Amino acid sequence: MKKRILTGDRTTGKLHLGHYAGSLISRAQLQDEYEEFILLADVQALTTHFNNPELINGSIYDVAMDNLSVGLDPEKVTFIQQSMIPAIAELTIFYSMLVTVNQLGHNPTIKTEAKNYGYKELTYGFLGYPVSQTADITFCNADLVPVGEDQIPHIELARKIVRKFNDMYGTEITEPEYKLSTVSRLPGLDGNAKMGKSLGNAVYLSDSEDVLNEKIRNAVTDTNRISVKISGNPDVCTVYTYHKAFNAEEAGNVCSMCKNAEIGCVACKKLLMKRMNEILAPIRERRHYYEEHLDEVRDIIHTGTAKANRIGNENIAKIKEKMHIVLS
Ligand code: TRP
Repeated sequence: MKKRILTGDRTTGKLHLGHYAGSLISRAQLQDEYEEFILLADVQALTTHFNNPELINGSIYDVAMDNLSVGLDPEKVTFIQQSMIPAIAELTIFYSMLVTVNQLGHNPTIKTEAKNYGYKELTYGFLGYPVSQTADITFCNADLVPVGEDQIPHIELARKIVRKFNDMYGTEITEPEYKLSTVSRLPGLDGNAKMGKSLGNAVYLSDSEDVLNEKIRNAVTDTNRISVKISGNPDVCTVYTYHKAFNAEEAGNVCSMCKNAEIGCVACKKLLMKRMNEILAPIRERRHYYEEHLDEVRDIIHTGTAKANRIGNENIAKIKEKMHIVLS
């Protein structure tokens, strides 16, 4: 039997190349070896966008289409709308009894996010989303969660909660493991260490060729390189990190030409654009297909969610039995 993977994204907008390099490529690679569940995390999206639910509705489609466009096969992969899974909501409440407020407050990812969003006081829902994420992963007994570094504290918490819960109630919920993405974080077009929607420095999977070219044309390079005639420093150049991520074959050559002042930034960017557009062409084509067939996307989500509920309902019934909260 194949091991089960569960991973997912908050549905707060379209996915960008940081998501692509960091996780979507590996999702596509893992879909044969594992039984793969992709969670469209619309409840987690509400932790920051509770006052903007209509944005979340469209984003559920966008995130699903972005995943489909990179080649996730809907015949193999299960797409799940988080808010439609009662077992996740119920488990979240049960787990919340075993986690202290202090424990959540010390979570480094929560702290960083709160700082980035400028939150002084945290809502109960935001502070507690790692508990809800534990429910996401365990309602279906997922074995493995592919993640970026920032998600590790959440998986560690999940493991702790599951151990405590199993010890306490004699349940047999799977303790999930994480699989760390091997790709380091992609910087933003502005040179910021992170590409992010809220930072306004992202290239989206759904960007057209023209939009991509324009964004790359304006991307920050080595700011000390004021003339083509002087040598550049690829180590501080955002465009070079993109070459390494998307144009590995030419990257070494680009690097030495830059250091030897044999290529200017304009020409270097043109090489990158060409390669990125080659990579994105089939992705754009698939995305275009799904944009024209939104009914199909909705069916994929409905079918996946129904399958997840069959699993979740069965598991939560067993768990409640073990907890002695089913009346006999
Ligand atoms: N926290 C993840 C993010 O910010 C999204 C997510 C929600 C998730 N539930 C999950 C990831 C379960 C992995 C497993 O992108």
